[in-house]
Amino acid sequence: YSFSQPCNEPVLGYLPGSPERAALEAELERQSSLQPEIPLIIGGRPVRTGRLGKVTMPCDHGHLLATVHRAGATEVRQAIDAALAAREDWLNLSYHERGAIFLKAAELISKRYRALLNAATMLGQGKNAFQAEIDAACEVIDYLRFNVHFASRIYADQPLMGSDSINRMEYRPLEGFVFAVTPFNFTAIALNLNLAPVLMGNVTIWKPASTAVLSSYYLMKVLQEAGLPDGVINFLPASGAELTETVLDDPNLAGIHFTGSNGVFNALWRGVANRLDRYRSYPRLVGETGGKDFVFAHASADIAALSTGILRGAFEYQGQKCSAASRAYIPRSLWPEVRQRLVEGIQSMKMGDVRDLDCFVNAVIDRKSFESIQGYVEKAKASPDAKILAGGEGDASTGYFFRPTLIEALDPRFVTMEEEIFGPVMTVYVYEDERFEETLHLCDRTSPYALTGAVFAQDRYAFVQACRTLRYAAGNFYLNDKPTGAMVGLQPFGGARGSGTNDKAGSGLNLLRWVSPRTVKETLL
Ligand code: ALA
Repeated sequence: YSFSQPCNEPVLGYLPGSPERAALEAELERQSSLQPEIPLIIGGRPVRTGRLGKVTMPCDHGHLLATVHRAGATEVRQAIDAALAAREDWLNLSYHERGAIFLKAAELISKRYRALLNAATMLGQGKNAFQAEIDAACEVIDYLRFNVHFASRIYADQPLMGSDSINRMEYRPLEGFVFAVTPFNFTAIALNLNLAPVLMGNVTIWKPASTAVLSSYYLMKVLQEAGLPDGVINFLPASGAELTETVLDDPNLAGIHFTGSNGVFNALWRGVANRLDRYRSYPRLVGETGGKDFVFAHASADIAALSTGILRGAFEYQGQKCSAASRAYIPRSLWPEVRQRLVEGIQSMKMGDVRDLDCFVNAVIDRKSFESIQGYVEKAKASPDAKILAGGEGDASTGYFFRPTLIEALDPRFVTMEEEIFGPVMTVYVYEDERFEETLHLCDRTSPYALTGAVFAQDRYAFVQACRTLRYAAGNFYLNDKPTGAMVGLQPFGGARGSGTNDKAGSGLNLLRWVSPRTVKETLL
């Protein structure tokens, strides 16, 4: 295996008649009726607790995909013991040996398990084939290959200094275990929250999102097949509270790697703070949380690029990417044409089951999410400060389908301009062209988040102005492109303010959070 700079995994096209499409369709059919019983995996072995939960399809909630055993406090303690027992051997492997396992996993997914992971992500998390391909295949593979490369650079760069002594910096893993709490919306993030600490020699307790447990389980199986030693990652589907309390109570908790809501991350942070006296070290808290990601157009914007950027940025994967565009600022001079393109674009989007590969829009993840989206849209319908321009309706009778919705806000602080919705809802505020600068400041102040944002402008000076005024408004900032779809190796991902600790997933900065360096001085006698 080569540890040199990799290339991004090519995105396959799934065109009619292509071999990848045939393989995917066959796998979708197989998994639709398979109904596996998913165990926990502790110390490399399957554990069945008998406390079974159901895994259903967002696009067809009466359709049972799998059942899943759920961990209780006893299994969490067993998993922590298994992780700590595996730790010494794991950290003593060289990074070449650790890296080789993950490069093998990348090969297995690229060549053998692509359809498996894509189909599980489509059926279980409601992604269409393209969205699954760029996540469960390409981004998963990219995280594996690029992180191995970044880790090799970090280890190669352990500084060696001095003349009458040899001084070096040793990148030890954290002392204890890392708790990985993973989200439903990206199979790749579920992988990476384990991969980054484990690659640097740590061991993890993994709590997958209950709505993504199918793809998470298959990922775990692929890692095992690639040679991951028993106990290095322990897979523990569970309901949040019991597992979390047991983990937080353990003195060996050395870090938390999290993606999800602010509420849960804040609760974890407070839980750690309340127990500080019991830990051996201060736990590292690394989290990516909410977003209220913007598109900001200048009057010089290319209208076609802007409209496509809004439609794709807001509505791909039903707006359930943390990076999804959900508010836009459009100058009055462009609005009539942009508005027409957005409304027509929304009306042309086919919505339906993921197994119909022509659908652009599928269901949102669950009933709670559907009802929350509906609640925001109802507020817009009831308010004199907002107008629904397209969509606005949902139907949860068979799957959690909500039409992509375009709102025009007359008040730039209307609730759908400010709060994270995590669904297919885009709110536009139309500003007077001459108020460009003022509106940039408004954009900066409107939300507590700062994850992604896009500026559309052909005027270079306008872009420079936007860059300055919005310096802290986004951790991933785009010019003339949608604010979603960061590529590993090209756009390391994460934001600050209310969006998290900004420890850039897919970069050496993130990997360095999982080491506790020791300097060693050896005097030459
Ligand atoms: N990394 C994902 C994106 O950029 C969240 O869309």
